[in-house]
Amino acid sequence: MEKTKILFVCLGNICRSPLAEAIFKDKVKRKNLERFVEADSCGTANYHVGDTPDERTVRNALKNGVTINHLGRQLAADDLDYFDYILAMDKSNHQNIYRLPNASRHQQKIVLMRTFDPQGNGKDVPDPYYGTERDFQEVFDILDRSMDEFILHLERSHLPA
Ligand code: 4NP
Repeated sequence: MEKTKILFVCLGNICRSPLAEAIFKDKVKRKNLERFVEADSCGTANYHVGDTPDERTVRNALKNGVTINHLGRQLAADDLDYFDYILAMDKSNHQNIYRLPNASRHQQKIVLMRTFDPQGNGKDVPDPYYGTERDFQEVFDILDRSMDEFILHLERSHLPA
C-alpha cells in the first residue's frame, strides 16, 4: 500500500508548519500508523531556507512533549505533484500556493489546516512570529486538536480498517 503523503505549509517554515509536522508525526507514532504516512513541511517564502526552527516554537513544543526536527525549505511546484494533502496554515499562504503554475490541477488537495479544527473551521492558524509565549501556546493548542481530527479523517478515508 502506498503511503499517504502530507505537506504542511506556512510562510517562513520556522514556526507553524514545522510544529504541525512534528505534532502529526508524534501522533502517528503513538497510533502505530507510521508505515502508512509520510509528512514534511515547507514555507511559501524563502527567508529561512536551511534554518532550524524558531527557538520559541522549539521550546514551547518541548514543554508540550513534542520534539521538532526540521530544516527550513521553500515550497516548489513539484511538491504539489508529489504530496496528497497540502495543508496551508492560513488563507494568505493558501493564496500563495495557488500562485504555483500547476496549482489549478491540484485544487482538491490544497486545504486550510483549520478545516479540521472542531473549534475554528476555516479560520487561520495565527502567525506567532511577533507574539508572546501565549501566542505560541495558542498555536500549539490549535494544531494539536486540528491534527486529531485530520488523523481521524485519514484513518477513515485512506488507511486500512
Ligand atoms: P511561520 O512564521 O510562517 O509560522 O514560520 C513566520 C516566520 C518568519 C517570518 C514570518 C512568519 N518572517 O517574516 O521572517
